[in-house]
Amino acid sequence: MRRDLSPAELFDREYPAARKAPHLAPVPSYARPLDVRRAMEVDLSVIRDQRGDLVVAELGKHLPFVARRMYSLVRVPEGEARGGHAHKELEQLLFVLHGALDLVLDDGVTQQRVRLDDPEKAIYLRPMVWRELEHFAPGTVCVVLASEVYDESDYLRSYDAYRDELAALGW
Ligand code: TYD
Repeated sequence: MRRDLSPAELFDREYPAARKAPHLAPVPSYARPLDVRRAMEVDLSVIRDQRGDLVVAELGKHLPFVARRMYSLVRVPEGEARGGHAHKELEQLLFVLHGALDLVLDDGVTQQRVRLDDPEKAIYLRPMVWRELEHFAPGTVCVVLASEVYDESDYLRSYDAYRDELAALGW
């Protein structure tokens, strides 16, 4: 008997292909493309009751990769900026649990500023997106789920090196 695949089964079927060629991989059904290529917006699920809101990011439903690491940005002093790099292979899902920040994205051609100020909204970044995080509201808590453990060799920390890598990839 034929049955619909569960989100996790769909994920297992589609993910190996996406992993091989993330720049060609289709946009997951639950994600909306941004103007910047390889960057998407995802609505997380919210379960509300009188005790408060429970916000979920689950593999294959909101999260397009297996998370091997979580890190958070907290106590960012007023006026400080973070980011200023791209990743060669890392995928990330970013969201703000509390507060607000500007995520400035750049795919080498198009730039876009996204205000993240809602814990239900996440940004999914495939590899090779230059990002800067700025204008943090006081007390902001930004959480990042990452597809790989920390690896400094995956970073492109200068915009010139990023542009060179894009050219080498022919993107
Ligand atoms: P970096 O990624 O440059 O921070 P941001 O993009 O938020 O400005 O990392 C800052 C420092 O922390 C750098 O020395 C690398 C280190 N680091 C880790 O050791 N593990 C991690 O998971 C991350 C994200 C950074």
